[in-house]
Amino acid sequence: MSHADDNQGTRRDFLYYATASAGVVVTGAAVWPLVNQMNPSADVLALASIRVDVSAVEPGTQLTILWQGKPVFIRSRNEEEIAEARAVSLDDLPDTNSENANLPDDALATDENRALTEDGVWLVQIGICTHLGCVPLGDRAGDFGGWFCPCHGSHYDSAGRIRKGPAPRNLDIPVASFIDETTIQLG
Ligand code: FES
Repeated sequence: MSHADDNQGTRRDFLYYATASAGVVVTGAAVWPLVNQMNPSADVLALASIRVDVSAVEPGTQLTILWQGKPVFIRSRNEEEIAEARAVSLDDLPDTNSENANLPDDALATDENRALTEDGVWLVQIGICTHLGCVPLGDRAGDFGGWFCPCHGSHYDSAGRIRKGPAPRNLDIPVASFIDETTIQLG
């Protein structure tokens, strides 16, 4: 696949949303180059924490926001996605660590340890492939119904765990928490 094709795939996947404090609210298909051109100042990139209104995120969809210069996937998983993720045995995982900054270093990569909420609905991840840093495609992409990185063919499942391809680790989960019913704080 050519580099141009990679970019197309990446752009198509993007939907940006940020609270007023972050100063950027944009949506649509061609957002990535726009954000690059906006060249956020150092103080915006360095924001230690931001709050994201997730009230408009429907089950089975995700929001991608830019935080500290990185895409963050905030997904509201539907029942099917949760059930699939919870049915996976740890034995089938190349990376059995939760890679979740909210948990102890040795926490296992169960779906319960990956999801932000006990009901499994919310999943928040850094949207950067752990192989060489491309932005994976979402919306049930790849062979495992999660995310797919077209750069070298890494497949992640609906809990963001690497299942096939060269990526060595599950997608990283940043420090995140709900501060009220519809607001997630990152950082
Ligand atoms: Fe994602 Fe290589 S950067 S598979």
